[in-house]
Amino acid sequence: MPDNSQHTIKLKLSGKTFTSNKGETVLEAALRQGVKLPYSCKNGTCGNCKGRLLSGSVSYPIHPPLALDEKEKADGDILLCQAVADNDLQITVREIEAIKDIPVRMLPARVSSKELLSPNVAKLKLRLPKTQRMQFLAGQYIEILLPGGKRRAFSIASPPHDADELELHIRHVDGGDFTSWVFNELKVKGILRIEGPLGTFFIRHGSQRPMIMMGGGTGFAPLKSMIEYLLRKQSVRPIHLFWGARNLEELYCLDLPEQWERNFSHIQFTPVLSDPLAEDHWQGRTGFVHTAVIEDYPDLSAHEVYMSGPPIMIDTARHAFPAQGLADDRLFYDSFEFGADVPFEILAEPH
Ligand code: FES
Repeated sequence: MPDNSQHTIKLKLSGKTFTSNKGETVLEAALRQGVKLPYSCKNGTCGNCKGRLLSGSVSYPIHPPLALDEKEKADGDILLCQAVADNDLQITVREIEAIKDIPVRMLPARVSSKELLSPNVAKLKLRLPKTQRMQFLAGQYIEILLPGGKRRAFSIASPPHDADELELHIRHVDGGDFTSWVFNELKVKGILRIEGPLGTFFIRHGSQRPMIMMGGGTGFAPLKSMIEYLLRKQSVRPIHLFWGARNLEELYCLDLPEQWERNFSHIQFTPVLSDPLAEDHWQGRTGFVHTAVIEDYPDLSAHEVYMSGPPIMIDTARHAFPAQGLADDRLFYDSFEFGADVPFEILAEPH
């Protein structure tokens, strides 16, 4: 039977309700009405938006809920970024209070500098209009709006107190038109249109538990923002940063975390290479970065883990860490795709 009606969605823990329109996912409906729920990839692969269905039913017309395993499905878990309500729902999900008052805005941003951090990673600095700063939490991301309604997401690498300029780390993707354009054609003073801040990857305060931060490749960017923010706040909460990449060149600003470790006794840094090159002369840790975390912390029950990187890394760790005693509600992550992207054309010429 065709379903043209709105449905009411009730969040059990807070008692909040909102409505979904026909075809709208639960997450879209919530965000549209100012209800902040956790999410990251928005394509069904990271599991960040997981909630539990207490009553009602949902369908998945766009992508199947790939991030859910059979047990989670049998337990009634749903992915809110993909689930469309068939009828009224009642669900439980972690609500995100910290971002509820931060407006998401669409802004023009001028490229104020572009620098290669390695042959494959560019650092872009984007200057926002003087009267329109973007408030954000360390760890969040922005989307760059492309013609045809497409978007590309990039974590903000700079901390919130440097509000004049946003720093992005952009990895060149083979076959990625947008990243090729950034590397080869984008000029300083070019204008991009951005929307943000987005995402629910940010530091949960109210705990002094030691933090393990784990980044893969340019997944270092939001962790850099978090650490710089904590240093600015003079926090001495212990941090052990693990940064994984294939080879030395991909640890594109190794000096910075090495400096943190030298200068601050509460920060520890472990770089890990999965596939070092002979010319790297690598003497450090090798293998997968999540394995290095487990080797150093076979018992994770006292920690909080913040991780950011490609879906395969996140997915593996998200299943491996709970087996080491990490509670579900102490694991926070951001998952992003490096995949080839959409046809691209210049939005605005530099001027
Ligand atoms: Fe829904 Fe990633 S699976 S946000």
